[in-house]
Amino acid sequence: MGRHVSAIVVAAGRGERLGADTPKAFLELAGRSLLSRSLSSLLMGGQVDEVVVVVPPGFEERAGPASECNGLPVTCRAVVAGGARRSESVRIGFEALSLATEVVLVHDAARPFVPGGLVERIIAAALEHGGAIPAVPIPDTVKEGAGGFVQRTVPREALCLSQTPQGFRAGLLKEALEVGESLEQDFTDEAALFEGLGYSVRLVDSCTTNFKITTPDDWRLATAWAAATDREAFDV
Ligand code: CTP
Ligand code: MG
Repeated sequence: MGRHVSAIVVAAGRGERLGADTPKAFLELAGRSLLSRSLSSLLMGGQVDEVVVVVPPGFEERAGPASECNGLPVTCRAVVAGGARRSESVRIGFEALSLATEVVLVHDAARPFVPGGLVERIIAAALEHGGAIPAVPIPDTVKEGAGGFVQRTVPREALCLSQTPQGFRAGLLKEALEVGESLEQDFTDEAALFEGLGYSVRLVDSCTTNFKITTPDDWRLATAWAAATDREAFDV
Protein backbone atom coordinates (compact mmCIF):
# COMPACT_ATOMS: atom_id res chain seq x y z
CA MET A 1 0.00 0.00 0.00
CA GLY A 2 1.32 3.43 -0.89
CA ARG A 3 1.32 6.11 1.72
CA HIS A 4 0.09 9.57 1.00
CA VAL A 5 1.06 11.77 3.94
CA SER A 6 -0.67 15.11 4.46
CA ALA A 7 0.11 17.71 7.09
CA ILE A 8 -2.13 20.28 8.75
CA VAL A 9 -0.07 23.10 10.24
CA VAL A 10 -2.22 25.06 12.67
CA ALA A 11 -1.19 28.70 12.91
CA ALA A 12 -4.55 30.35 13.58
CA GLY A 13 -4.03 31.20 17.27
CA ARG A 14 -3.66 34.78 18.51
CA GLY A 15 -0.68 34.10 20.75
CA GLU A 16 -2.29 35.78 23.75
CA ARG A 17 0.17 34.40 26.28
CA LEU A 18 3.06 35.70 24.18
CA GLY A 19 1.45 39.13 24.24
CA ALA A 20 2.63 40.51 20.86
CA ASP A 21 0.24 42.52 18.69
CA THR A 22 0.71 40.17 15.70
CA PRO A 23 -0.41 36.50 15.80
CA LYS A 24 2.63 34.55 16.89
CA ALA A 25 3.15 32.45 13.74
CA PHE A 26 3.77 35.66 11.78
CA LEU A 27 6.41 37.08 14.09
CA GLU A 28 10.04 36.90 12.96
CA LEU A 29 12.16 34.46 14.94
CA ALA A 30 15.85 35.23 14.29
CA GLY A 31 15.10 36.62 10.84
CA ARG A 32 12.41 34.19 9.58
CA SER A 33 8.75 33.91 10.45
CA LEU A 34 7.86 31.29 13.03
CA LEU A 35 5.50 29.74 10.47
CA SER A 36 8.24 29.45 7.86
CA ARG A 37 10.58 27.81 10.38
CA SER A 38 7.94 25.35 11.58
CA LEU A 39 7.04 24.36 8.03
CA SER A 40 10.70 23.82 7.12
CA SER A 41 11.47 21.71 10.15
CA LEU A 42 8.37 19.56 9.56
CA LEU A 43 8.86 19.12 5.82
CA MET A 44 12.65 18.99 5.60
CA GLY A 45 12.90 15.20 5.59
CA GLY A 46 10.72 14.90 2.48
CA GLN A 47 8.14 12.47 3.94
CA VAL A 48 5.15 14.80 3.56
CA ASP A 49 3.30 14.91 0.22
CA GLU A 50 0.97 17.84 0.85
CA VAL A 51 0.38 20.51 3.44
CA VAL A 52 -2.54 22.71 4.47
CA VAL A 53 -1.76 25.82 6.50
CA VAL A 54 -4.46 27.19 8.83
CA VAL A 55 -4.10 30.90 9.67
CA PRO A 56 -6.14 33.60 11.42
CA PRO A 57 -8.84 35.08 9.14
CA GLY A 58 -7.27 37.85 7.04
CA PHE A 59 -3.75 36.36 7.13
CA GLU A 60 -4.13 34.02 4.14
CA GLU A 61 -2.00 36.18 1.83
CA ARG A 62 0.71 36.75 4.39
CA ALA A 63 1.10 32.97 4.70
CA GLY A 64 1.71 32.67 0.96
CA PRO A 65 5.50 32.97 0.92
CA ALA A 66 5.98 30.66 3.92
CA SER A 67 3.71 28.03 2.38
CA GLU A 68 5.91 27.87 -0.70
CA CYS A 69 7.83 25.66 1.72
CA ASN A 70 11.21 27.07 0.84
CA GLY A 71 11.63 24.96 -2.27
CA LEU A 72 10.91 21.63 -0.55
CA PRO A 73 9.21 18.94 -2.68
CA VAL A 74 5.73 19.23 -1.18
CA THR A 75 2.43 20.56 -2.50
CA CYS A 76 0.89 23.38 -0.52
CA ARG A 77 -2.69 22.39 -1.09
CA ALA A 78 -4.38 25.32 0.65
CA VAL A 79 -4.05 28.18 3.07
CA VAL A 80 -7.33 28.45 4.97
CA ALA A 81 -8.74 30.61 7.75
CA GLY A 82 -9.04 28.80 11.08
CA GLY A 83 -11.57 28.90 13.89
CA ALA A 84 -11.82 30.27 17.40
CA ARG A 85 -10.44 27.08 18.98
CA ARG A 86 -7.52 24.91 17.98
CA SER A 87 -9.77 21.90 17.49
CA GLU A 88 -11.91 23.91 15.08
CA SER A 89 -8.82 24.98 13.12
CA VAL A 90 -7.77 21.33 12.80
CA ARG A 91 -11.23 20.38 11.50
CA ILE A 92 -11.16 23.17 8.93
CA GLY A 93 -7.68 22.10 7.84
CA PHE A 94 -8.79 18.47 7.56
CA GLU A 95 -11.61 19.45 5.16
CA ALA A 96 -9.03 20.92 2.77
CA LEU A 97 -6.90 17.75 2.49
CA SER A 98 -7.01 15.63 -0.64
CA LEU A 99 -8.99 12.40 -0.58
CA ALA A 100 -5.81 10.47 -1.31
CA THR A 101 -4.61 11.22 2.23
CA GLU A 102 -3.72 8.10 4.18
CA VAL A 103 -1.82 9.55 7.11
CA VAL A 104 -2.46 13.00 8.59
CA LEU A 105 0.12 14.87 10.62
CA VAL A 106 -1.19 17.71 12.78
CA HIS A 107 1.53 20.17 13.74
CA ASP A 108 1.60 23.38 15.80
CA ALA A 109 3.14 26.33 13.98
CA ALA A 110 4.36 27.24 17.47
CA ARG A 111 6.92 24.36 17.33
CA PRO A 112 9.74 25.37 14.97
CA PHE A 113 12.32 22.73 16.01
CA VAL A 114 11.03 19.29 14.94
CA PRO A 115 13.98 16.92 15.48
CA GLY A 116 15.40 15.07 12.47
CA GLY A 117 13.92 11.58 12.11
CA LEU A 118 10.84 12.24 14.27
CA VAL A 119 8.41 12.72 11.37
CA GLU A 120 9.32 9.35 9.86
CA ARG A 121 8.89 7.57 13.21
CA ILE A 122 5.51 9.23 13.79
CA ILE A 123 4.27 8.24 10.31
CA ALA A 124 5.42 4.64 10.74
CA ALA A 125 3.80 4.36 14.17
CA ALA A 126 0.55 5.99 12.99
CA LEU A 127 0.32 3.51 10.11
CA GLU A 128 0.93 0.60 12.44
CA HIS A 129 -1.16 1.64 15.46
CA GLY A 130 -3.67 4.19 14.13
CA GLY A 131 -2.33 7.16 16.09
CA ALA A 132 1.09 8.33 17.34
CA ILE A 133 2.40 11.29 19.29
CA PRO A 134 5.87 12.56 20.19
CA ALA A 135 6.41 12.45 23.95
CA VAL A 136 9.12 13.35 26.45
CA PRO A 137 9.52 12.28 30.08
CA ILE A 138 8.94 14.88 32.82
CA PRO A 139 12.30 15.73 34.38
CA ASP A 140 11.04 17.55 37.49
CA THR A 141 9.21 16.22 40.52
CA VAL A 142 5.48 16.73 40.00
CA LYS A 143 3.29 18.16 42.76
CA GLU A 144 -0.41 18.59 43.05
CA GLY A 145 -1.28 21.93 44.60
CA ALA A 146 -4.37 23.67 45.95
CA GLY A 147 -4.69 27.11 47.50
CA GLY A 148 -0.96 27.72 47.14
CA PHE A 149 0.15 24.60 49.09
CA VAL A 150 1.40 21.19 48.07
CA GLN A 151 -1.29 18.55 48.45
CA ARG A 152 0.79 15.59 47.34
CA THR A 153 3.62 14.39 45.11
CA VAL A 154 2.41 12.76 41.93
CA PRO A 155 4.35 9.68 40.77
CA ARG A 156 5.78 10.78 37.43
CA GLU A 157 7.03 7.46 36.02
CA ALA A 158 3.92 6.96 33.93
CA LEU A 159 3.56 10.62 32.93
CA CYS A 160 4.93 12.32 29.85
CA LEU A 161 4.52 15.56 27.95
CA SER A 162 2.84 15.40 24.58
CA GLN A 163 4.09 17.34 21.53
CA THR A 164 3.38 17.61 17.81
CA PRO A 165 3.51 16.51 14.98
CA GLN A 166 0.83 14.00 15.95
CA GLY A 167 0.07 11.37 13.30
CA PHE A 168 -3.19 9.55 12.56
CA ARG A 169 -4.65 7.27 9.96
CA ALA A 170 -6.93 9.57 8.00
CA GLY A 171 -10.14 7.54 8.33
CA LEU A 172 -9.80 7.26 12.11
CA LEU A 173 -9.02 10.95 12.49
CA LYS A 174 -12.06 11.85 10.40
CA GLU A 175 -14.23 9.84 12.77
CA ALA A 176 -12.56 11.32 15.86
CA LEU A 177 -13.00 14.89 14.58
CA GLU A 178 -16.67 14.25 13.90
CA VAL A 179 -17.16 12.99 17.44
CA GLY A 180 -15.15 15.97 18.77
CA GLU A 181 -17.38 18.41 16.94
CA SER A 182 -20.46 17.05 18.66
CA LEU A 183 -18.93 17.55 22.12
CA GLU A 184 -19.02 20.78 24.13
CA GLN A 185 -15.58 20.25 25.58
CA ASP A 186 -12.46 21.61 23.81
CA PHE A 187 -9.48 19.32 23.30
CA THR A 188 -5.93 20.63 23.26
CA ASP A 189 -4.85 17.77 21.02
CA GLU A 190 -6.41 15.18 18.73
CA ALA A 191 -4.85 12.31 20.64
CA ALA A 192 -7.29 13.08 23.48
CA LEU A 193 -10.18 12.34 21.11
CA PHE A 194 -8.49 9.13 20.01
CA GLU A 195 -8.07 7.97 23.60
CA GLY A 196 -11.73 8.73 24.28
CA LEU A 197 -12.74 6.49 21.38
CA GLY A 198 -10.51 3.70 22.59
CA TYR A 199 -8.10 3.90 19.65
CA SER A 200 -4.42 3.25 20.25
CA VAL A 201 -2.04 6.18 20.39
CA ARG A 202 1.60 5.12 20.28
CA LEU A 203 4.15 7.13 22.28
CA VAL A 204 7.20 7.99 20.18
CA ASP A 205 10.34 9.26 21.97
CA SER A 206 11.07 12.89 21.23
CA CYS A 207 13.33 15.69 22.53
CA THR A 208 12.69 18.72 24.73
CA THR A 209 14.08 20.93 21.96
CA ASN A 210 10.75 20.32 20.18
CA PHE A 211 9.14 22.71 22.66
CA LYS A 212 6.13 24.90 21.95
CA ILE A 213 6.64 28.65 22.04
CA THR A 214 3.98 29.91 24.44
CA THR A 215 5.44 32.67 26.65
CA PRO A 216 7.92 35.55 26.17
CA ASP A 217 10.58 33.40 27.91
CA ASP A 218 9.98 30.61 25.37
CA TRP A 219 10.43 33.19 22.62
CA ARG A 220 13.79 34.31 24.04
CA LEU A 221 14.96 30.71 24.32
CA ALA A 222 13.78 29.95 20.78
CA THR A 223 15.59 33.02 19.40
CA ALA A 224 18.88 31.80 20.86
CA TRP A 225 18.30 28.20 19.74
CA ALA A 226 17.31 29.25 16.21
CA ALA A 227 20.45 31.36 15.87
CA ALA A 228 22.62 28.49 17.16
CA THR A 229 21.09 25.82 14.93
CA ASP A 230 21.13 28.11 11.88
CA ARG A 231 24.85 28.59 12.48
CA GLU A 232 25.41 24.83 12.75
CA ALA A 233 23.51 24.22 9.52
CA PHE A 234 25.69 26.84 7.84
CA ASP A 235 28.90 25.25 9.13
CA VAL A 236 28.09 21.83 7.67
N1 CTP B 1 -4.19 27.40 17.04
C1 CTP B 1 -5.04 27.47 15.93
N2 CTP B 1 -6.32 27.95 16.07
C2 CTP B 1 -6.76 28.36 17.26
C3 CTP B 1 -5.92 28.29 18.40
C4 CTP B 1 -4.63 27.79 18.27
O1 CTP B 1 -4.63 27.12 14.83
N3 CTP B 1 -8.00 28.86 17.35
C5 CTP B 1 -2.80 26.95 16.87
C6 CTP B 1 -1.78 28.02 17.25
O2 CTP B 1 -1.59 28.92 16.16
C7 CTP B 1 -0.56 27.23 17.62
C8 CTP B 1 -1.14 25.89 18.09
O3 CTP B 1 -2.52 25.87 17.74
O4 CTP B 1 0.31 27.01 16.54
C9 CTP B 1 -0.93 25.67 19.58
O5 CTP B 1 -1.69 26.63 20.31
P1 CTP B 1 -1.10 27.70 21.34
O6 CTP B 1 0.31 27.46 21.62
O7 CTP B 1 -2.09 27.79 22.46
O8 CTP B 1 -1.11 29.08 20.47
P2 CTP B 1 -2.09 30.29 20.60
O9 CTP B 1 -3.49 29.82 20.76
O10 CTP B 1 -1.77 31.19 19.45
O11 CTP B 1 -1.57 30.99 21.95
P3 CTP B 1 -2.44 31.47 23.19
O12 CTP B 1 -3.21 30.27 23.68
O13 CTP B 1 -1.43 31.99 24.16
O14 CTP B 1 -3.35 32.55 22.66
MG1 MG C 1 -4.07 28.65 22.54
